[in-house]
Amino acid sequence: MNHQQCVKMQYSRNREQQLSNSNRSRPANNSALGKAEEIPAALRDGAKTRSNIRRKSASKPRTIAAMAIGLGVLVAGGVLMMATPRDRTPTPIVSTIPRDPSTPTTATNQSSDTDTDNVLNHLPYAQAPEAELVSIGGNYRLRKTAAVKFQSMVAAARSSGVNITTISAFRSVEEQKRLFFGVGAERGQQPTKRAEVSAPPKYSEHHTGYAIDVGDRSVPATNLNQNFDTTPAYKWLKANAATYGFELSFPKDNIQKVSYEPWHWRFVGDINSLETFYKAHNLKNK
Ligand code: DAL
Ligand code: ZN
Repeated sequence: MNHQQCVKMQYSRNREQQLSNSNRSRPANNSALGKAEEIPAALRDGAKTRSNIRRKSASKPRTIAAMAIGLGVLVAGGVLMMATPRDRTPTPIVSTIPRDPSTPTTATNQSSDTDTDNVLNHLPYAQAPEAELVSIGGNYRLRKTAAVKFQSMVAAARSSGVNITTISAFRSVEEQKRLFFGVGAERGQQPTKRAEVSAPPKYSEHHTGYAIDVGDRSVPATNLNQNFDTTPAYKWLKANAATYGFELSFPKDNIQKVSYEPWHWRFVGDINSLETFYKAHNLKNK
């Protein structure tokens, strides 16, 4: 063997050695990898973390157990997702802030035409319980809370030289029947015309025991007339009534389209009175 033959033989041996080493670094077969590939994609991460254990044991029951656990995790996740509310949008809070009745009706502020329970634009009111009513002088009665505030208001006006008188206060449904149908018949008024100035029975604010009609003792000719708004009593009330929890029910261009009544005031100074006049009505005028 010459030198060249000797070198060739050595090269051939080295090459065999290299090939042998390279084969040893590869898996003996693809069985472990193959099983991993059979596991659904969603389970592969879990399969990888357990791959060493699986390689050591290479047992079928372990693989099946891992798949079962993985499937269990998926099912549990699905149940949790279904049980979790998906819509995280905050529930809109319906405003309960009373609309300012002095705000004129606009195209976006729908009129009482949308109030399905109104009759000729008047809203239904329950009659105040007898036990809630107290005298405010004469034959006039109001609910206790309203009566106390009304009397304070009248006293304050008097101390300013203004004399507020009472024309009407609580009225029962029976009394309202006489006013609406009786007076309406005397005047020959159709119900639609009558309703412009008087509420049908069961639909008068006076049933609540929170509403009152007032006059000015110094100018009785203005009683129940729209020119009552020229009197010192009206001007004083306009400036001070809110302090005592009272507001004008039917200002000019009111949302109910009831005739302007500068003499008719209602108490809205506690939660019951506020709900009485605003709750249902407010929702319908969103
Ligand atoms: N006077 C008003 C319309 C009422 O009775 O409610
Ligand atoms: Zn009235």
